[in-house]
Amino acid sequence: MKIQGMLAAVAALAFSGAVATAQDDDRIMIDIDEATQAQLLTSMRGLVVSLDKLMLALSEGDFDAVARVGEIDLGFGHSKLQAMVDAGATDEEILARREQMRANRAARAAGGGTKTGSGMGQKMPEDFRMFGQSMHMMAEDMAIAARAVEGTPTAADFQAVLQGVQAVTGSCVACHNTYRIR
Ligand code: HEC
Repeated sequence: MKIQGMLAAVAALAFSGAVATAQDDDRIMIDIDEATQAQLLTSMRGLVVSLDKLMLALSEGDFDAVARVGEIDLGFGHSKLQAMVDAGATDEEILARREQMRANRAARAAGGGTKTGSGMGQKMPEDFRMFGQSMHMMAEDMAIAARAVEGTPTAADFQAVLQGVQAVTGSCVACHNTYRIR
């Protein structure tokens, strides 16, 4: 190959490489109607708000508040629990409802059912829902780590909880790398 031809080939490669990063999008497209899209994106923006709340609680070393974000804002059944919070339910009422929902899930799982949650999730493919379930699971695990902190938090306490937080953000990234809706 002549030098000129080689340069052209390298340039073409470099160019196609640059294009590939923009277009080489192998995320799975989920086909949902516009209303469901809007609902999904709204709930996603809510997740950023929850993460911000989590960071605030962490920066204040308030592990109770950290746990509550994991349990209520990011945990299983978050929309139902959040509605209770908004309606002014007491902590005991919310905890009781959480326990009840947990028991219901266990019963459904024991019965061989896989469908959990309500509303939007039902319109999504099974695999996509698993990513969502995994995020809730990580959040609940993070909350358990936060609940385990007693007295003045140590550096090791912070590290344990932060590992839990990263597992949550890792589950955001895992789903975002896998799916798109537009
Ligand atoms: C079960 C899959 C899944 C999980 C888990 C998930 N997301 Fe998303 N998220 C999506 C999809 C799908 C989109 C839309 C991507 C697109 O534009 O096609 C999205 C979009 C977003 C957007 C853009 C919203 C907008 O209005 O454009 C934000 C912000 C976001 N997600 C934040 C988060 C955060 C923070 C987490 C973790 C706490 C998270 N997501 C977890 C699937 C997920």
